[in-house]
Amino acid sequence: MSDNHNHSNSPIPDDAQSKDLDAKALTTTMLAILDQNNQGDYTSPAKLYPHQWLWDSAFTAIGLRHIDPERAAREIASLVRGQWSNGMIPNMIFNPSNQYRLDRDFWSSWLSPFAPDHLATSGITQPPMLADAVVKVGEKLPKSHRTEFYRFMFEPLVQYHQWLYLERDPHNEGLTLQIHPWEVGLDNTPPWVHQLYDHSRPWWIALIEKLGLQGFINFIRRDRSVPPGQRISSLEALMLWDVVKRLRRKNYNIERIMHRTLFATQDISFNSIMVRNNTQLQTIANIIRKKLPSELLTQMKHSEQALDKLYDDISQQYYSRDFITHKLIKEPSIGTFLPLYAGTISKERASKLVKLLKDHKKYWLHHPVPSVPLDSSFFDADRYWQGPSWVNTNWLIIDGLERYNYTELADELRQKTIQLVNNQGAWEYFDPLNGRGLGAESFSWTAALTIDLLNQ
Ligand code: GLC
Repeated sequence: MSDNHNHSNSPIPDDAQSKDLDAKALTTTMLAILDQNNQGDYTSPAKLYPHQWLWDSAFTAIGLRHIDPERAAREIASLVRGQWSNGMIPNMIFNPSNQYRLDRDFWSSWLSPFAPDHLATSGITQPPMLADAVVKVGEKLPKSHRTEFYRFMFEPLVQYHQWLYLERDPHNEGLTLQIHPWEVGLDNTPPWVHQLYDHSRPWWIALIEKLGLQGFINFIRRDRSVPPGQRISSLEALMLWDVVKRLRRKNYNIERIMHRTLFATQDISFNSIMVRNNTQLQTIANIIRKKLPSELLTQMKHSEQALDKLYDDISQQYYSRDFITHKLIKEPSIGTFLPLYAGTISKERASKLVKLLKDHKKYWLHHPVPSVPLDSSFFDADRYWQGPSWVNTNWLIIDGLERYNYTELADELRQKTIQLVNNQGAWEYFDPLNGRGLGAESFSWTAALTIDLLNQ
């Protein structure tokens, strides 16, 4: 798929020099990163990413709660600032400083009547990790503040989950659809790249590809501080940009967007995360003795079984599905393991997934879990969501393994993940073959989730 193979500045690790773990010192280093990225109300993911992101803040708060639960609660609560009046919580709330005006203007969220007046956001969402983070942060708050926090978050969460079904499950299938890979957070994961090439390649991008001009696009990219071999390809970046332009042209109105598009996917990662967070929303309701709307309860129940529609019996794994054709997009990716985190699949299914996870030729590499299996034609150890191991997906898988009682395997993955960060630092992602840190340095969710893993 790709062009050049540049290398990050982090040294190629030598396993023989694996550093001894000093949990206290590692926590201090991780915390320093979260302080460095502290923007007041929220923590930005890294220097490269100044805005507030939905699932980044959820992961950050999950780690921060062990050290500073009040700051973790603020991190979560500040996401509500960006909630749209139709219930959507956007994937990005823009940093207000003038330097970032370009991003705000590009999205122009003010085109939608639902967008908040007082601040600029994107027009799409991200995996709904919020309810899980709320439950976990609340558990660490002093009792006096805990109920108040749960009460404050409850209504926005209900509205958000209702929006997910109302706008994104128009045929009552129990599965929600996503309209941009950024909604899934795994930007260039193979199933979405597959969809982009099939349904979202306008003539002018095809022409750039044909004439081999994609190299020029590198000059205008914002992520040039990271070697191009570790990011998405320039053509894919252009296609993603073009999708946003189309959403903006339709004022982020879902009916208008869906009116003339074939580009919509029922994504396995997003839907798995949604199912688990539905359960956590119910947990919050129980704690504060509130009832969830009965229609939402029915929809939530339906989703638990609906994940089955994304399972392929022949290859014994989960895939994302094209919303229009209902065909599974059979490009293997890390998404197949996230139903473990959902927690509602059968034990038999879980055991099939665990068998796949332990396969040394696919996923259980020296530094698991790669974002695509080693034998995929997409596999590239350096490139973003097409090979590298990420701490957030490891965290989700560890959680899922625990839930299905694979305690030893969960522990092994936990230790391997911590060791990766201990050796290299809090990089955005890691080479699954040699453990080298890649992408952005001092990355918040890597730091925060390492703290959480150390405390489990
Ligand atoms: C990248 C990741 C996405 C994350 C964002 C901010 O785009 O793919 O998941 O939310 O960076 O860290």
